[in-house]
Amino acid sequence: MDLPPPLSAADKNSFAYPTIKERLPVILAKIADTLYRTRDKIKSQYQEDVSEELKSIIGSCSKLRNEVQTNKVAVPLQDSRNDTQVWNRYLQAATEREGSPPSWFKSAWLYMECYMYRRIQESVEKCNIMKEFDVFGEQKEKSFTDSVYPTEIVMMHLLETQQKIKENAELVPEAFKLFLKVCLWGNKCDLSISGGEDNAQKSSPLEQLGKLEPNILINDSNVVLNHLCSRNCKRIDIVLDNAGFELISDLCFAEFLLSAGLCSTIYLHAKAFPWFVSDVTKKDFDWTLQMLGQINHIAVSNFAQVWKERLNNSSWILQVDDFWTLPYDYSQMETYAPDLYQSLQKSDMIFFKGDLNYRKLLGDLRWPFTTSFETCLRGFYPAPLCVLRTSKSDVLVGLPEGRDEEVKAQDEDWLVNGNWGVINACLKTK
Ligand code: F6P
Ligand code: MG
Repeated sequence: MDLPPPLSAADKNSFAYPTIKERLPVILAKIADTLYRTRDKIKSQYQEDVSEELKSIIGSCSKLRNEVQTNKVAVPLQDSRNDTQVWNRYLQAATEREGSPPSWFKSAWLYMECYMYRRIQESVEKCNIMKEFDVFGEQKEKSFTDSVYPTEIVMMHLLETQQKIKENAELVPEAFKLFLKVCLWGNKCDLSISGGEDNAQKSSPLEQLGKLEPNILINDSNVVLNHLCSRNCKRIDIVLDNAGFELISDLCFAEFLLSAGLCSTIYLHAKAFPWFVSDVTKKDFDWTLQMLGQINHIAVSNFAQVWKERLNNSSWILQVDDFWTLPYDYSQMETYAPDLYQSLQKSDMIFFKGDLNYRKLLGDLRWPFTTSFETCLRGFYPAPLCVLRTSKSDVLVGLPEGRDEEVKAQDEDWLVNGNWGVINACLKTK
């Protein structure tokens, strides 16, 4: 099959171009500003003097910002993280393929953007004392704190739903669809699309569902539900995306699946280091559960307790794998992360959250809008899968002929403003 070319900032009409020209430099500048502004607070968290290391992280991010803006080539990584050589081999192979080293406005957008986050991590990896520091930590914590009200609303609803479905199992399908949609729209709240600016869910996540219903361009929720009900599902996987309200919505969905008897174990997949500003790391996950435990609200404190227990009894398993932050799309998982692929083969359903996961499922290629989702996966199918994604980049597939034009007439920025979403499943009968 002839594949379409990858999205790239070389195309000034793509979202790649303003992302590399404006959005990524803003994200890098924000790191430097935040670290400088909060330097005293950061220093006070360490026993030893971290002034020099902090200065070096700030300097590296400012330098990287200049490299992006002046279209420099991607230089090899120089830290000793266990994925350094994988990245450098990728850069070498891309250099051979392209005839010169990858650069910001010429090469595939997906990998240049991933490379930026890996370079930020390099600046932290080179430290001795600040090795575990998260340059986006403050932004993620603020986004959680700003979302306490919707968190309380959705958890209260979950608590009430659990009670109702205990008494009447016929309520499960409607409730399933509701929590699936809360989980989908939770993906609106990432801090990468907003350039690190405040993008937290603040209003009731339930009240917005009706208004957003027509914005779900593909809705396979019935197919997914039938699949889950028609077999004795044991394991469901959720490949997490952002911390903050999106994580809360994912955990509520995971809790719902278990309490409705739709599976017995949930595997949650987190990132190995800070990624695309707000993606969940293990540290964010633990911090979030700890914070929930401190909120004085009947439903929130209930679930804080229940979820701690779920981790202890392994009905929730949090997994971290380097693959999610490597320069590969998911069609390459079987080759480069065979253990992860084989583990996912044991799943009854894998939910992929968010825009970046969608881009990696599709290889971030310029597929025509009408291409089928399955074609775009290019053979990636460890198990039945479903993507829950609000659109924040140019690639979107599985639409009927002419639908893209209709939506565009209604909303010029439909592909990138996060107000349109897909619940798109691929279920093959093996
Ligand atoms: O910076 C662009 C981008 O890759 C967009 O595609 C998307 O807005 C964001 O970063 C990541 O979004 P998500 O958190 O939904 O994966
Ligand atoms: Mg994200």
